[in-house]
Amino acid sequence: MNTPSPLARNKWDRRYAGRTVEDLMEPTPFLLSCLPELPTTGLALDIAAGAGRHTLILAQRGLQVDAVDISWQGLRLARQQAAQAGLWPGSIQFFVADLELAWLPRMYDVIVVSFFLFRPLLPVIKDRLRPGGWLLYETRVEPMADNASASHRRDFWLKPRELLDAFSDFEVLRYDEGHRRRPEGRAGGVTARLLARKPVS
Ligand SMILES: C[S@@+](CC[C@H](N)C(=O)[O-])C[C@H]1O[C@@H](n2cnc3c(N)ncnc32)[C@H](O)[C@@H]1O
Repeated sequence: MNTPSPLARNKWDRRYAGRTVEDLMEPTPFLLSCLPELPTTGLALDIAAGAGRHTLILAQRGLQVDAVDISWQGLRLARQQAAQAGLWPGSIQFFVADLELAWLPRMYDVIVVSFFLFRPLLPVIKDRLRPGGWLLYETRVEPMADNASASHRRDFWLKPRELLDAFSDFEVLRYDEGHRRRPEGRAGGVTARLLARKPVS
């Protein structure tokens, strides 16, 4: 466990504070499409789990899940949904923690990262996957057009092929980059999506 940075925590807590379980997002199409390939037992980690849309679906598949996020408010929503679904307590552990301190609770069979990037965490993710473990990663890719309004986001957006290169020592089962539509008329964007396995030896 670590002490989250108050600035980042407040920002995300404010975003989640007004929400209820009724207006939470569905799992991403990518995660849903990968789900049948994942194991049905073992330990999974949902990195920057937010309100838990992927935590729940991993637990419903049979995995024990650690959900880590800096936002207590986000995890409150996740826990509420998990309790309603009969998955908490039991299948899920929630951790309020600052991932910029590169802290991951234990070793995992599955790690999911969805719309979160902190580059120094990438080698830690590699290290925390068990041999043969599965990584599902989807996050935004920097737009091709270079404009000033996007410059503050550079730290949070991948460069083209960056995710693929970062896990080139893994067995890459799926990788693509493309424009995604979002439901309810929300602005879409380009994401990179990776499904990969850590080599056994
Ligand atoms: C765009 S949301 C994605 C949430 C979730 N993965 C999903 O796809 O629905 C980014 C998440 O990262 C979390 N976050 C941001 N900075 C963080 C940090 N330093 N440590 C842990 N979580 C952080 C936020 O609280 C937020 O829940």
